[in-house]
Amino acid sequence: MNLILMGLPGAGKGTQAERIIDAYGIPQISTGDMFRAAIKNETTLGLQAKAFMDKGDLVPDEVTNGIVKERLAEDDTKNGFLLDGFPRTIDQAKALDQMLKDLNKKIDGVIEIHVAEDILVERLAGRYICRNCGATYHKIFNPTKVEDTCDRCGGHEFFQREDDKPETVKNRLAVNIESSAPILAYYQKLGLLQTIDGNRPIDDVFADVKHIIDK
Ligand code: AP5
Ligand code: MG
Ligand code: ZN
Repeated sequence: MNLILMGLPGAGKGTQAERIIDAYGIPQISTGDMFRAAIKNETTLGLQAKAFMDKGDLVPDEVTNGIVKERLAEDDTKNGFLLDGFPRTIDQAKALDQMLKDLNKKIDGVIEIHVAEDILVERLAGRYICRNCGATYHKIFNPTKVEDTCDRCGGHEFFQREDDKPETVKNRLAVNIESSAPILAYYQKLGLLQTIDGNRPIDDVFADVKHIIDK
């Protein structure tokens, strides 16, 4: 099962992806996570991506398409994959079509998690992430069960993302609102798009996600 998870920054892509990969055993391919790992490891890719990410702008298509192409060719995608945060431009969507064609694969469905902009700002401001395993939490909406202890791995160190600063969030939202509209239309036209209301408790959103996947 080959899926695309769409949604504006803070919509809950990563949060739902954690549950989807556990439930369905397919790998999550998050371009944002791949860029952050590259920045941490100070690779050439990281250097290329950092300036764009710090401003909340999109990393150029040729860079982004290149890493996805390599990633999709890996063995663990043979029973399916979940793209999180890719494609974000029409050029990326078209490049993805070609990559999949070359690999003899196709997209089975596109799930858009829809959340209003004012709520997204709140979500990004309160997000924190486990440094050890990457699990995502929120100070108010989704705190760890035991204070300062990751539910998933027991880790005690957390961080906030560089691009979750209020100045950056504003531009990230504007950029993504503009870039997402044509891709949603693209997948709608292909009959692949399913939109769900993401402004509900995480488990309720996941119930909808499961319902769509199981169909
Ligand atoms: P990326 O890492 O993909 O960031 P994003 O799209 O801005 O999305 P986020 O990861 O911020 O949000 P999310 O939807 O995953 O929400 P989460 O589950 O964490 O990309 C970062 C940057 O990399 C981009 O800005 C760009 O520069 C670059 N990039 C990446 N892909 C690219 C591409 N294809 N092309 C070009 N550039 C690219 O949840 C958010 C918070 O809300 C958490 O605190 C969570 O606990 C909470 N929450 C989640 N669900 C709920 C709920 N239902 N109710 C209440 N709270 C909830
Ligand atoms: Mg994410
Ligand atoms: Zn953890």
